[in-house]
Amino acid sequence: MNMDEEKVVGETAICTVGDGHSLSYRGYSITELSAWANFEDVAYLLLYGNLPDRAHLYRFQQLFIKSVTLPQPIKAMLEILPKTAHAMDMLRTVCSLLGTLEPENAPGAEAELAIRVMGVSMTSLAYWHHFHLTGRRLIAPYEQQLIAQYVLNAFHQRTVDESWVWALNIAFVLYAEHEFNASTYAARVTTSTESDFYSAIVTAIGTLKGPLHGGANEAAMALLSSFETPEQARTGILKKLAHREKIMGFGHRVYKSGDPRSPIIKDVAQQLTKKSENSRLFEIAEVIEQTMEQEKGLKTNLDFYSALVFHCIGMPTSYFTPLFVFSRITGWAAHIMEQRQNNRLIRPLARYVGPKARAFVPITER
Ligand code: COA
Repeated sequence: MNMDEEKVVGETAICTVGDGHSLSYRGYSITELSAWANFEDVAYLLLYGNLPDRAHLYRFQQLFIKSVTLPQPIKAMLEILPKTAHAMDMLRTVCSLLGTLEPENAPGAEAELAIRVMGVSMTSLAYWHHFHLTGRRLIAPYEQQLIAQYVLNAFHQRTVDESWVWALNIAFVLYAEHEFNASTYAARVTTSTESDFYSAIVTAIGTLKGPLHGGANEAAMALLSSFETPEQARTGILKKLAHREKIMGFGHRVYKSGDPRSPIIKDVAQQLTKKSENSRLFEIAEVIEQTMEQEKGLKTNLDFYSALVFHCIGMPTSYFTPLFVFSRITGWAAHIMEQRQNNRLIRPLARYVGPKARAFVPITER
């Protein structure tokens, strides 16, 4: 292993970034999973350790169908939350409220709790969206369908094109897990104090929201849509770089020579935008990619082309990071379980750089 051992803070059997050029979940490469697996397979793999057989997949689907039911207090809360609230803040609050309504009684049911939190989060976003947009209390019926299809149908209130389901399914597979990224590590820190499942998920949602982490997909869309032509994009990026601005959707703490998920999601974006009204956005994205490579040697991360994919499947930009949450709940839950199996309080030390020891001065003498 090439990885700098000093930066290793723990062990995991869930996922590896290899020597910084690949990604696999429990031994299965992301390339194969995104080509062949449904998100259901990946969620099961992360939560239960192996790919499901037909019987286990059926059981998982039945649990998921039950999980999308919204408790009345959650509906009531969604109706009183300000319309202007960010969807990530809404999800964080939903998860926290769910933790009071259906508290975790004892460890051992984390996988089922994860499925429940996933179902409630997905339905909450659709309910909140429709309620604030039209005042209607819409809940999409869940039939025997893919989770990606459920999310799209609940949001659009119609059966959507199969290519959209295909695209969201792949995005969910790619977003599901990523070793000790910031939100997962934050969830593990919370778990290490022997706190409850919901608290760890709420911690993770709050951490994912930031633009240097999950919020980058929203920020990347804002960037893409700020340009009307590829020429404008090139000039605009050069200007931003000259002002030392960060370009969202580029760079990565681990993958210095490219995010292995990027070519997969770029291909999806290309397929979706081909011959569509969004083909110009794809051209703009490619010019930004080329400019960043030439000027900074920086490559896209998963969030850059995911933003374009989410846009093409008709999702509002402020829902991009919540889509990331839906999928990553499975990875977070897997880490919560793993942390609990061999727990030790996570308490790093800091190097002190403050003032030297000094005598206290009473207020009358200051
Ligand atoms: N745009 C412009 N410059 C960037 C950049 C970006 N997206 N990402 C890194 N850089 C620059 C840094 O400013 C630094 O320049 P400097 O040496 O002149 O100061 C150089 O590239 C090296 O960066 P590095 O310190 O190795 O990055 P990091 O590991 O600290 O940060 C990220 C990693 C992901 C936080 C960072 O790349 C970033 O902020 N990207 C944009 C947000 C994003 O897409 N987040 C999602 C991550 S999956």
